[in-house]
Amino acid sequence: MFLSPEGRAAGEAVLGWMREAGMRAALDPMGNAVGRYEGVRTGLPCLMLGSHLDTVRDAGRYDGMLGVISAIECIDVLHKKKEKLPFAIEVIGFGDEEGVRFGTTLLGSRAIAGTLDPEVLQAKDSGGTSIAQALLQFGLNPQHLSRVRRKKSDVLAYAELHIEQGPVLEAEGLPVGVVTAINGFSRLRVTLRGEAGHAGTVPMSLRRDALAAAAECILMVERAAKELPDLVATVGRIEAKPGAINVIPGEVQFTVDLRAPEDSAREDAVAEVKREIARTAAQRKLEARIESLQDFGSSACAPWLMRQLERAVEARGVRVRRLPSGAGHDGMAIKAIADIAMLFVRCKGGVSHNPAESITEGDAATGAAVLFDFIHDFKPLSA
Ligand code: HGY
Ligand code: MN
Ligand code: MN
Repeated sequence: MFLSPEGRAAGEAVLGWMREAGMRAALDPMGNAVGRYEGVRTGLPCLMLGSHLDTVRDAGRYDGMLGVISAIECIDVLHKKKEKLPFAIEVIGFGDEEGVRFGTTLLGSRAIAGTLDPEVLQAKDSGGTSIAQALLQFGLNPQHLSRVRRKKSDVLAYAELHIEQGPVLEAEGLPVGVVTAINGFSRLRVTLRGEAGHAGTVPMSLRRDALAAAAECILMVERAAKELPDLVATVGRIEAKPGAINVIPGEVQFTVDLRAPEDSAREDAVAEVKREIARTAAQRKLEARIESLQDFGSSACAPWLMRQLERAVEARGVRVRRLPSGAGHDGMAIKAIADIAMLFVRCKGGVSHNPAESITEGDAATGAAVLFDFIHDFKPLSA
C-alpha cells in the first residue's frame, strides 16, 4: 500500500538495486522511487522507464514490480559495460498506481506529469488520514510536490514493461506483445441510505433495505456491461452498515469500475448506471449518493515508439502482436508530458490481481532483452 511500511521497504529495496546499477536514486517528494542514469553528458533529456511498486490487496508478484526490475536490469547491463547513451535514462518505481488506499489512482505518475490537482491531497483513506497527512507521516513534504513535475523537454519518451494481465499472448503462444492503447476508466462510489431495523419484526413490505437495493444495482451494472462487447464493469468493494446478522442494513457503500476502449461508450455506460441506480433507490424509497472518484480517457501509444519496440521484438525472432490494454497503467498519466509505449509479457492464464499471478523465467528474460534492445537503439523523435 502507498506510504505504508511495506511500501517503504519495497522503495528502499528498489533504490538499493538502482544504486547498484550505477544510478543516482532517491524517493521523490511524492514517494516515487526515482533512479537516473546519465547519458554521454550530464543533464540530458531522458528516456523514462518504470512501473508501479504498489499493489492491490492480496496481489500477485509481478503486476508493477516486474517492469521496475526489468528496467533496472537493463541499466545494470549498460553500467557493467560502462556504456553511456546519447540520452539519460530514468527508472521510476511509481508509489501509487492502484489507488487502493485513497481511492484515486496514478498519484505518483500524475505528480511527475504535473497534472495532480493539489485538492486531491485531501482525499482520505478508510482511517480518515489524507494523502497530505500520510506524506508528512512518511517523512515527505507535500509542499515540495512542484519539484516532482517534469517538463516535456525533460522527457524524450516513456516505455513500460508490464505483465499482460490477460489471456491473448498465452493463447497465441507469444512471450511478448506491443500495446496499442490503454482503455479509459471511470470509478464511482455509491452510497445507498435506507433504514436500519429489527430483522425479526419489520414486515418485508415496510422495509427500506439498503443491501437488497445494492444487490439489485450490482446485477444491473453487470447487465449493462454485458450489453456492449468491449465494456467491462466491476463492483469490487461493498460495505453494509451496521453489519449485524439481525439488523436490516440501513446504509450500503459500494464501488463501480467501468472501462472501455471508446471513451464515448464508457461515458454512456456511466450515465446509464447512474440513472438506473437512482431509479432503483427511488423505487425502494432510499436515498442514493453517487460520487465520481475518477475518470481517465483511453490513452493511445505512439506509433513511432511502437515501431521501435516492434523492431526489438522482431530482432528476438518473435512475431509482433499488437494488443490493447484493458488494465490501467501509469503511462496514462505520463502521456501528458511524453509519448508512451508498453511491452506486455505473457502471464499464465492471464491471471492477475491474484496471488496466482505467474510468468516464466524465459518470458521475463525475453521481455527484458526486448526492453534492453529498445533502450539501446532508441532514437528520439527529433533525431
Ligand atoms: O486497475 C487497473 O487497471 C490497474 O491495475 N491499476
Ligand atoms: Mn494492477
Ligand atoms: Mn499494474
